[in-house]
Amino acid sequence: MTIPLHSLTVELGPRSYDILIGSGILAGLGSALQSRFRGRRIAVVSNETVAPLYLAQTRDALEGAGFRVTEIILPDGESHKNWITLQRIFDGLIENRFERGDALLALGGGVIGDMTGFAAACHQRGVPFVQVPTTLLAQVDASVGGKTGINHPLGKNLIGAFHQPCLVLMDVETLHTLPKRERLAGLAEVIKYGVIWDRELFTLLETRLEAILTGEATLMVELLTRCCAIKAEIVAQDEREHGTRALLNFGHTFGHAIESLTGYDRWLHGEAVAAGMVVAGDLAARLGLCPPEEAEQVRALIERAGLPTRLPAYPVEAYLEAMTHDKKVSAGKIRFVLPERLGRAVVRSDLPDTELQAALRANMEPSPP
Ligand code: NAD
Ligand code: GLY
Repeated sequence: MTIPLHSLTVELGPRSYDILIGSGILAGLGSALQSRFRGRRIAVVSNETVAPLYLAQTRDALEGAGFRVTEIILPDGESHKNWITLQRIFDGLIENRFERGDALLALGGGVIGDMTGFAAACHQRGVPFVQVPTTLLAQVDASVGGKTGINHPLGKNLIGAFHQPCLVLMDVETLHTLPKRERLAGLAEVIKYGVIWDRELFTLLETRLEAILTGEATLMVELLTRCCAIKAEIVAQDEREHGTRALLNFGHTFGHAIESLTGYDRWLHGEAVAAGMVVAGDLAARLGLCPPEEAEQVRALIERAGLPTRLPAYPVEAYLEAMTHDKKVSAGKIRFVLPERLGRAVVRSDLPDTELQAALRANMEPSPP
C-alpha cells in the first residue's frame, strides 16, 4: 500500500516553509529542494550515529538533483550541544568557503537540528537551512518552528536564535533504526500536544497506544501530520513566544530542571518532559485548575507508554534553584504551563510555594540518585 505524502505549510509570510511527511521520501529530498532553494552547495551536518545510517542516501538524493555536498560529522549526544562542537560546524563551512547563498542541512535528531540551525543563523549573519529530522522527537517538535541553539552548563538551550528552516522533510522509515528508548522519548512530546491543544489526539493515544508503539507507517505519518499541524498553527500565531507558543513548554520547566540536575546525560529530554508533565498535572489539580481525574489520565498514559512518571530524588531547593535558570523565567518569576483540562492549558506564574513544593515532593522518587 502506498502511503500518501502529507504536506503542511508553516505560514510566516516571507519566511513560510513546507513540512513534507511520508514514508520512503528521503530519496526525493533533492527534487523537493530544487524548487525551494536556489543555491547549489549544501553542507550536511550529521553525527557519528546517524551518518552511517542515512548520509549516503541523503548525499545521493542531493547530488542526483545537482547539489554539491560537503559533510560535517559531529560527535553524538546532548553533552556535545555546546560551543566546542558548534565551532566544528563553522570550521567546516569556512574551510570549504561556504557563502551566503549556500545552505546547511541538519540530518539527525534535535541536537543536530538545534546546532545546525544555530550555525545557519550565525554563519555570515544568516544562511538558509533544511531540517531532515530522524528522531520522533525532532519530527514532531524540534525541527519545526525555528528555535535553534546550544546548552550552557547552567541551563538548557540558553544560547540561541530564532531562525526558520526553508524546508522540513521527515521520513518515518528513519524511525525503524531508532532505539525504543528514544522513540518513547519522542512520544512524550506527542502526549504534550494532546494535553495542551488536542483532546482528540489524547484520546487517540489512549485508544491506539499499542499500535503506535509498533511504529506502523500509516499511523505514524498521521500522527506526525497531526502534531506538525498543531506546531505549525502555534508557531504561525506566535513565532517568538510572546504568548501561545509558551504552551509548548508544558512539562519543560520541571523537565529542564531534571536534565540540568542530572548533568544532561542520564535522562533523555523527552523522558524529563514526561515526568515534568506529571508534576505539572498534579500541581494544576492541587491548585484546583484541572480536574484531578484528568491529571490522573495524563499520568496513567505516560506510565502506560513506559515513560518515567517520577522526578529523580534531589532536594526540593535544588529543583527550585534549577528552575530559576530556565528561559521561561520572566521578571524573576518562574512561569509554569498547567493543564486546565485535556486539550487546554494556561501559563501561570506567582504560584503558591506550598503547592509547588508539595507537587515536587509528591512526585519524586523516594531514594537519592
Ligand atoms: P538527539 O538528537 O540526541 O537524538 C537521540 C539519539 O538518537 C542520538 O543518539 C542520535 O544520534 C540518535 N538517532 C537519531 N536519529 C536516529 C535514527 N533514525 N536511528 C538511530 N539513531 C538515531 O535527541 P532528540 O530527542 O532528537 O532531541 C533532543 C534535543 O532537541 C534536545 O537538545 C532538545 O533541547 C531539543 N529540542 C529542541 C526543540 C526546538 O524547538 N528546537 C524542541 C524540542 C527539543
Ligand atoms: N519546543 C518548544 C517550541 O518550539 O516552542
